[in-house]
Amino acid sequence: MKILVVLSLLLVATSAKIFERCELARTLKGFGLDGYHGYSLANWVCMAFFESSYNTSAINHNMKDKKIVSTDYGIFQINSKWWCNDRKTTHCHNICGTRCTNLLNDYLNDDCRCAKIIVTKSRGMKAWVGWKNNCKGKNINRFVHGCQL
Ligand SMILES: *[C@@H]1O[C@H](CO)[C@@H](O)[C@H](O)[C@H]1NC(C)=O
Repeated sequence: MKILVVLSLLLVATSAKIFERCELARTLKGFGLDGYHGYSLANWVCMAFFESSYNTSAINHNMKDKKIVSTDYGIFQINSKWWCNDRKTTHCHNICGTRCTNLLNDYLNDDCRCAKIIVTKSRGMKAWVGWKNNCKGKNINRFVHGCQL
């Protein structure tokens, strides 16, 4: 019984969450993304919206010939082929040096650390299709509008 209580507390402590827009903006700013590699905070919030709808536990598989070739994890949909290790993607590079499952909780320090590596090594945010198709060159002020930053 005690073990059960401890286990469920642990689950709650590391559980997924859907961030509010301004809460996410403040959190990303706190981890140094505002202006990182020349991208304003609105770019990062916009990217997270189109990649995961602010869902920290979002998981999406990338398929080829009906097989999973890699998986995208978390609020920034970080890919297991290049950036994190999920122990099931072949020829994985794990450039961020982290387990992909670490990117599914509501503590975004590791997600932001990896996003900084991605934007640097990929020479920009075009690494994120959600950003490229929906945020790049668009009026994205609404993503931080009204937020107390
Ligand atoms: C968040 O993502 C998880 C994993 O894909 C999913 O099970 C859950 O329903 C999502 N939450 C919302 C509110 O969309």
